[in-house]
Parts: sequence; structure tokens; C-alpha cells
Amino acid sequence: KILVLDFGSQYNQLIVRRIRELGVYSELVSHEISIEEIKKDKSIKGLVLSGGPHSVYDEDSYKIDKEIFDLGLPILGICYGMQLMTKLLGGSVSKSLKKEYGLTTIQTKGSSLTIDLPSEFIVWMSHGDSVTRVPNDFKITASSKLTEVVMMEHISKPFFGIQFHVEVEHTNHGREILGLFLNQCDVERNWSMESFIVEQTKKIKETVKNDKVILALSGGVDSSVVAALLNHAIKDQLTCIFVDHGLLRKGERESVEKVFKDEFKINLITVDAKKRFLEKLKNISDPEIKRKIIGNEFIRVFEEETNKLNDAKFLAQGTLYTDIIESGTKHAETIKSHHNVGGLPEDIKFKLIEPLNTLFKDEVRDLGRKLGLSNEIVDRQPFPGPGLAIRILGDITDEKIKVVQESDYILREEFKNHGLDKKIWQYFTVLTPLKTVGVKGDKRAYENVLAIRAVTSIDGMTADFADIPYNVLQIVSTRIINEVDGVGRVVYDITSKPPGTIEWE
Ligand code: XMP
Repeated sequence: KILVLDFGSQYNQLIVRRIRELGVYSELVSHEISIEEIKKDKSIKGLVLSGGPHSVYDEDSYKIDKEIFDLGLPILGICYGMQLMTKLLGGSVSKSLKKEYGLTTIQTKGSSLTIDLPSEFIVWMSHGDSVTRVPNDFKITASSKLTEVVMMEHISKPFFGIQFHVEVEHTNHGREILGLFLNQCDVERNWSMESFIVEQTKKIKETVKNDKVILALSGGVDSSVVAALLNHAIKDQLTCIFVDHGLLRKGERESVEKVFKDEFKINLITVDAKKRFLEKLKNISDPEIKRKIIGNEFIRVFEEETNKLNDAKFLAQGTLYTDIIESGTKHAETIKSHHNVGGLPEDIKFKLIEPLNTLFKDEVRDLGRKLGLSNEIVDRQPFPGPGLAIRILGDITDEKIKVVQESDYILREEFKNHGLDKKIWQYFTVLTPLKTVGVKGDKRAYENVLAIRAVTSIDGMTADFADIPYNVLQIVSTRIINEVDGVGRVVYDITSKPPGTIEWE
């Protein structure tokens, strides 16, 4: 595998992704990893030093031991990584007079990383510092108008520096350059989702042996894919527990049962816990208290169920790679942790298995498809653990749940009819406690205001309200008013995040 050392660039995950796309397994690790740890892992065949927001001369800049160059491994420094390489090996780095951001044409001068590439092409730069003198035994292999050292390499050892970002789409030939670096490493290009399935199946079998595994299945992408993978690996040793807290979307429970019980023939226990959740939520309006009650109750229900299965030793979770790197390496900006209803207590008596914890979200989707899950499941929009409870402003009653379920169902149907379901990150309806006057069949009506929320987003951290054609809004609004009792007016939420969050509570 290839290890990418994280020096804080926004793009470091992308480097890992690109290397995997080229068929070589890659991982992102903190730059605080010790030389000993790298030495110990014989599967590491090459290192990438990522970019980062610092200047190598900053007091608090991220550093790495110079011994890294004695490991006998090929090393590629990108942006900050190249500047760090330069500093450690005795060259010089200076603040550039002119900063270089955006697209730049570079001229190559013969490098093992540009074999068969044109002598001029466009790359994406983002730097304030530049290498002004390459270390001894290095040569300059590409330059631009503003920057002399755009690429450099050692004359006999496999050490390379690149000032631009090879990993971003805007850089022409980025993939080829990374591929040529991989040619310098003693790796085979055989990593794929198929090989992942084979490897993980073996690993899961070795870990679990003849013991039983429990999985809290929510119907979301991650737990669904874990279910499919474990089913593939250990079949009858898996039991899934699906807690219906009564705050699910219309049809959700049925669809989970159909896929996992009927089609996959997984041992699925559905717990109908609506009554106890609603009992606990009675007269509660505060969103944070709602969240806490649901989280705690979920744990209680789950524990009761698992106590009945006293021969299970393992608990499977759909933790993703991004969950780990966001809480683990800590160097990238924009970090957010989210409470999930599936977030189980740490002192749980099971051993954890997390078979997706090296995968990115879209790799998980790909894996799900390969394991036979439908697009409907693997492309499903995010759904919060507390469910519809945070889409009903104020206290929760059976009638209000019904209003949200029915209106949400209409919205989903119409977005699908108009091909919007694939373009929009998340869409749902929110029931407000506001009453509004209207006329329905010549009679005065006094019913609630319902909001439609639809946002586009890449990762849920920021979001824009979606551009929905008026005719679709009109159809949805008419259908909701006509078909859902208790709604007197429909409004469209035109708030982006920030400042608004995606959910209303
Ligand atoms: P916000 O509302 O914070 O939501 O902009 C960002 C994303 O997270 C989802 N969300 C949650 N997911 N438990 C979850 O599992 C929660 O408590 C929770 N709150 C919000 C939200 O649907 C959106 O996708």
C-alpha cells in the first residue's frame, strides 16, 4: 500500500482516492506517525507527503523526521510536502513575490513522472512559498513562468517533488503523473472492490470464527452495506436488529424488511418500539431533549434485544473511513461530528467489527451495488437518527407524524417523477406549529404551515437551497394541500447552510 502523510491540505483525501482508483490501496495517516511504525509495516511500498496550509518556516508547522528518507521507500512530496522535503534535505524555500493560485501552464524537462506527457500542459497551483534552491543531487524537471521549481527529483533515488496539485481534476495528466509515481513503487495494481470483498470476507471469517454477530440495521446506506457484506461473509452467524421508533418515513420499515428479510434472507429482528418512544416523547418540544430521549431509548431497546441473544460476541458497525480520519488525524479543516441514534455506548459487552472503516462513501455505494443492493438503497439520501421527530416542530403526536410521513412521501414521489431525486442531496417536509387561515371548499380553514426543504450539498457541512422548477413546487404543493389532512399552507425554505442547518431542529 501507499501511505499518504497528512499535513492538513483540503485535498489529502483526494490523493488517497486517486491512488485507489489507480488500483493500489492507499491510506491517509497523521504526519505524527513514527518512523518505527512505518518500518514495521512491510506492506508500505511508497509515501506521499501531502500539501498543507503552513509555511515550512512557521513555528508550528507540521514536521516529519528526516530519517524518512533512509527507509528506502519512494517518496512523493506534493506542494507543502515538496517544500518540506526541500528543507529537510538542505535546499531552500522562500515566500514567493507573486503567489500562484489557479491554472498555470508548465514546461517539463524530462522526468520519470512525465514520461510520454506533452512538454507543456496545464496544472492547478495553490501556493505562497516556493522552492528557490533544490537540495543537492536534485534536478528541476518542470517550471512555469512564475515558479522555477515546479517539479524536482533526485538524480538517483526515487524522491520526487511536485508544486502543483496532481490530485485535483483541473490538473491535466494528474492521474498519469501519480501512476508514474506508482511505477516507482514496488506495488501491483490489483486493488478493486472485488478484491476488497475477497479480502474482507477472509478477514471477517478469521475474526469472527464460529461466533455470532449483531448489527443495528437502520436502512441507511452504511448499515445496509455492512449487512450485505456480513451476509456474504458469514451468512447465518449474522442477526440484524431494526428498531422501528415510529418516526421513520412512510414505507421505510417495509422496504427494509423486503430487502433484507425476503430477498437476502437475513435473520432480521424488527422491534416495534413506537409506543415506548412516543410515550417518552409526549409533550416534549425542545429539540435537544427530543434527541437525547431518542438516543437513550434506542440504546435501551437495543440492549434489551441483544440480551436475548446471549451467544453473540460481536457487534458490527458501519463506521466509514471519513469518520476515522476526521476524528483521528485531526489536521484537515472543517470537522463535524454527528450524533447518531446508532451511536452505542462504549462499555458495550461486544467486540466491535467495522468492515467499512477503510472506505469512502462512494466506495461504500459501489461495494453495496457489487453485493447486490439496489440503487434505491445505495443512493439513499441521508436520514437523521432521530428521524421525523426533528421535522415536527414542537411536541410529537401520532397525527403530526402522519402529516409529515404523507407529505414527505408525496414530495419524494414527485421529485422522482421529475428526475430531481438524483440531483438533490436531501429533501423532506417540516411541519410547523403555526396555524394559518385559508379557504377550502368555500369554508374557512385554519390549519398548519408545512415547509419543503430541499438542498444541494457535497458533504452536508454546507448546503444551498435547491433550484426547484416552479411547476414541480406547484404540483407538490397542490397534492399536499389536497391529500394531507391538517396542512393549510405550503412554503419553500430558501435558506442555505450556513446560516441555516439542513434540518430545522
Ligand atoms: P444539519 O441539520 O446539522 O444536518 O445541517 C447535516 C446532516 O446531518 C443529518 N443530521 C443527523 N444525522 N443524527 C444523524 O444521524 C442526527 O442527530 C442528525 N441531525 C442532523 C441531516 O439530516 C443532514 O444530512
